[in-house]
Amino acid sequence: MRIAIYPGSFDPPTYGHLDVVERATTLFDKVIVAVGENSSKSGFLSVGERLKALSACTTHLTTVEIASFDGLLVEYCRRREAKFIIRGLRAVTDFDTEFQMSITNRQLAPDIDTVLLMTKWEFGFISSTLVREVARLGGDLRTFVPAPVLPIIERALQG
Ligand code: PNS
Repeated sequence: MRIAIYPGSFDPPTYGHLDVVERATTLFDKVIVAVGENSSKSGFLSVGERLKALSACTTHLTTVEIASFDGLLVEYCRRREAKFIIRGLRAVTDFDTEFQMSITNRQLAPDIDTVLLMTKWEFGFISSTLVREVARLGGDLRTFVPAPVLPIIERALQG
């Protein structure tokens, strides 16, 4: 069984993330989308809201599990018996960070490989950072995040 973990902040999940998850399901038997709880980035959605949002937009993908983790990613991979880490690449600007992360993870766990998947070009410009800014300023998010994520963002903005 080829198990892959797609880790991230997913704050909030975007169409770009969903595209990567969908692509990954064609390559692996099981894909665990894992929200990093100790990400240094400040939370817009709570981890619980992110899990709910990810679950709501992946109901059509039967081989996907939504989970969260804290601590080292490679330790979580070992616990889940995953030999692959998936990350999405939007543009060449992502490459440097992803390269550093994958080399660091390989150093920590030589038996776990990182697989970089290119997003569809039309999602190449979407970032959670910009989505958060548009959300806070009351902009229309419908072209950035899957429909089930919208009410979760709206509730978070009100609360
Ligand atoms: O969506 P993001 O913010 O780029 O995701 C970053 C994440 C959560 C994948 C990264 O911060 C992570 O792997 N955190 C776990 C801690 C860890 O293992 N750090 C060393 C790996 S480079």
